Amino acid sequence: RPYAAITAIGGYLPQGRRTNFDLEQVCDTSDEWIVKRTGIKERRILEQGLATSDMAVMAIRDLCTRYDKDISAIDAIIVATSTPDMLMPATANIITQKLNLKNVWAFDMNAACSGFLYALDMGASLVETERYKNVLVVGADNISAFVNIHDRSTNILFGDGAGVIWLEPSAEAGIIDAFMQSNGDGREFLNIEGGGSLHPTHDDIFSDERRYLRQDGKVVFKQAVQSMSNACKSVLQRNQLGIEHIDWLVPHQANKRIIDAVGKEINIQEDKTLTNIEYRGNTIAATIPLCIWENIKLIQKGDLLMLTAFGAGFSWGASLLRW
Ligand code: ACO
Repeated sequence: RPYAAITAIGGYLPQGRRTNFDLEQVCDTSDEWIVKRTGIKERRILEQGLATSDMAVMAIRDLCTRYDKDISAIDAIIVATSTPDMLMPATANIITQKLNLKNVWAFDMNAACSGFLYALDMGASLVETERYKNVLVVGADNISAFVNIHDRSTNILFGDGAGVIWLEPSAEAGIIDAFMQSNGDGREFLNIEGGGSLHPTHDDIFSDERRYLRQDGKVVFKQAVQSMSNACKSVLQRNQLGIEHIDWLVPHQANKRIIDAVGKEINIQEDKTLTNIEYRGNTIAATIPLCIWENIKLIQKGDLLMLTAFGAGFSWGASLLRW
């Protein structure tokens, strides 16, 4: 059976910028505090009237242009998002309409910040079974639509964006391994309660803060470091690899201090960790493909990459792949 290999990558970042100085105007915070505690200086924010599918379409068009790919060859599109355009239909379906694709298997996957890794594993499985040849895996989130601009415990972290990769069969190693886990006990520490079937949009909740993303930052921080580090160690162990074999670590971009703590815990050489958090913030399911896309010049064919993510659920995982 073939491997699934990544043969192209694309990305999209909205034009709008939200700097730390902008946040100083709307809540009690400072550029100094935010940089010191998160490593973030700026985030990109999607303009109102546009949605997650619009960013995903732009990212897919970017991929097709850069790699001269024919979009009509696509058999399946998996969209990792927790900020869909609407509850139904799936954002993946809306994307097929915008790209004029008529016979594609398209569906969404919601695992918050771990979504891209979950979807990548699913996409790789589709290719490895030989049922599907060309699979797009998108990570896209318009999280600014769910962030309370006056809440300094969340507004400092999040930005919008979309990244996408193209998977196809290959005789050489591509996606090598994936280790995904989740634990629903984490649901109370990081969530957006409003808008689902428990608290529909006509519910009273829409007058209170539960319509926004809420988190217990300290619990999330600790759990993120522990879970991502353990996932990376598990992948290394079962593939009989040492950390020195990894060319690039691509961690979920949630907080620079989380990224540094994971790097330290798994003992990777500092300059082997790719980041883009400084000017992007946490773009949820988009962080990993966007981080690769923005650092693509550093990655050589044949490099071994370890990707790792943690998000609401809690959900987490690590993937090992040969570029
Ligand atoms: N600006 C200024 N001061 C602040 C701010 C702010 N934005 N936020 C908190 N403070 C103050 C607090 O009041 C506190 O003051 P005190 O010492 O006088 O009581 C002090 O700064 C420290 O506050 P902490 O909450 O302890 O700050 P911490 O270092 O934990 O940083 C943060 C908060 C940035 C939210 C951090 O906990 C974090 O990044 N957590 C992880 C969050 C995350 O990654 N979420 C996304 C996960 S992925 C997904 O699926 C969405």
